[in-house]
Amino acid sequence: MIVTTKKLFEHAYGKYAIGAYNINNLEQIVGLFKGNLDSQAPFIVQISKGARAYTDKVFLEGLIRAADEVYPEAIFAVHLDHGDEATCYDCIESGFYSSVMIDASSHPFEENIAITKRVVDAAHAKGIVVEAELGMLGGVEEHVSVSEADAKLTDPNQAKEFVDRTGCDSLAVAIGTSHGAFKFSGTQSLHFDVLEEIQNRLPGYPLVLHGTSSVPQEEVQRINAACGNLAGAKGVDATQFRRAAELGVTKINIDTDGRLVWTRVHREFFNSHPEKFDLRDPGKVFIAEYAKFIAEKNEYLGSAGQLTAVREFLKA
Ligand code: G3H
Ligand code: 13P
Ligand code: ZN
Repeated sequence: MIVTTKKLFEHAYGKYAIGAYNINNLEQIVGLFKGNLDSQAPFIVQISKGARAYTDKVFLEGLIRAADEVYPEAIFAVHLDHGDEATCYDCIESGFYSSVMIDASSHPFEENIAITKRVVDAAHAKGIVVEAELGMLGGVEEHVSVSEADAKLTDPNQAKEFVDRTGCDSLAVAIGTSHGAFKFSGTQSLHFDVLEEIQNRLPGYPLVLHGTSSVPQEEVQRINAACGNLAGAKGVDATQFRRAAELGVTKINIDTDGRLVWTRVHREFFNSHPEKFDLRDPGKVFIAEYAKFIAEKNEYLGSAGQLTAVREFLKA
């Protein structure tokens, strides 16, 4: 069942965070639904501009509709990740997405407000909710590249003004995370002090963390042992998710970790089976491993085991 992120956040606020997982293909979608049902968790299916362009957005939408039919117990939101204004309007018009992210964070404050407000007005007119972003993460995003040195943490005072003036439904904040597999190359860590300040100014308001993959060292070692080269890859300590949730974070974005599972499975599979060439063989292993990864991640997020309570909450 597709629901808005807003509803999911109302149930989660202050208690746990919902996993927002980026998907690009069939195997990821099947593993995602299986893993969330195995762990009885609500979740967010996240589609980036790059994922929409990888084949054709219609394929992805069709696969998600099919998964909704095959797994009728699943409760999830369908969300556009890092949208620009035109892509947001396209998703709003499509009638399929329950939530869009407008990422105008690379623009100056006033421009970010103006762009976000236009998207919020268009989305709300159709009952769709909007995530916006303020501050700048380190690492590489789809359409903007910022060095760690230039990364700008979210200003708590600006966060309150931004939400008041745009009417956005949730806010992605920069507290030291960054996209990709190489986070914290220096001495960086999460700035919970900044998060706490933001929550103080926006009590009860749902916050979002991007760039929150954990980059498990076991995955990195296995990839490197199977002829990969991800030396120095490092991520966010997943044991910090619960603390973030207590401070108002209701959505935690995970993409890179799923890519690492895919890379490890396929590297190991073809290394140990050089004679094989049926794509379904590693595909089956990947689906099972991705489902296991999702279920484990949901334990860290606290979303595992919440499905029945969310179903009751939605009925009320
Ligand atoms: O934050 C970006 C996400 O990891 C999506 O990545 O744009 O390569 O699909 P992508
Ligand atoms: P990671 O690169 O840490 O997985 O972050 C993903 C993300 O923020 C998607 O929007
Ligand atoms: Zn992101």
